[in-house]
Amino acid sequence: MIQETIVTTQNNEGKTHIAPMGIHVAGDEFIILPFRPSVTLDNILATKTAVINYTDDVRIFAGCVTGRNDWPLLKTKKIDGHFLQGSLAHCAVKLTHVDDDPVRPKLFCQALHRVNHAPFKGFNRAQFSVLEAAILLSRVNHLLATKIHTELEYLHIGFNKTAGPKEREAWDWVTKAIEQKLREL
Ligand SMILES: Cc1cc2nc3c(=O)[nH]c(=O)nc-3n(C[C@H](O)[C@H](O)[C@H](O)COP(=O)(O)O)c2cc1C
Repeated sequence: MIQETIVTTQNNEGKTHIAPMGIHVAGDEFIILPFRPSVTLDNILATKTAVINYTDDVRIFAGCVTGRNDWPLLKTKKIDGHFLQGSLAHCAVKLTHVDDDPVRPKLFCQALHRVNHAPFKGFNRAQFSVLEAAILLSRVNHLLATKIHTELEYLHIGFNKTAGPKEREAWDWVTKAIEQKLREL
């Protein structure tokens, strides 16, 4: 199973980095798959640790892919790292081994410490739509503009029926960034 999460890592100087990542999960084992080049990859190889954050605030996903990377963080207890203040839960992990690859290495990690902060509030279609739109943004260079617009039109149906203010803000960031990128192609 793949879960869409926010991975927080830090470099050897203690500078924190925040990035959305689809994490492969099997029990207490996680596989993080960053495409090279990646700050997340460099940081995990340097510190052998990461924090996987579970959040329903889709502005963090949309923000990170549109240049809004500054989200409030708190210190983790069991490792030298940070988790998102806006997370429902987080899991500190340690790197166990690497399956190297020139394009997309596999970073195998083991759960060290799981913490719940707030309850899961149920599924929301607008949040799904924002995540899908954020992924479309990362693929603008590889897709036809007509396909992007058809997909956005479909995603907007569920979005429009169910969004709250956070989802609307996130959707606005992502769709404006998509239009900007399409104009620049
Ligand atoms: C929902 C979602 C899932 C993503 N999953 C991945 C992933 O598994 N691997 C990856 O390299 N980038 C993924 N991305 C894109 C990265 O977040 C983005 O390219 C980021 O800048 C990664 O590079 P970094 O480690 O240098 O920050 C995802 C983006 C979104 C919105």
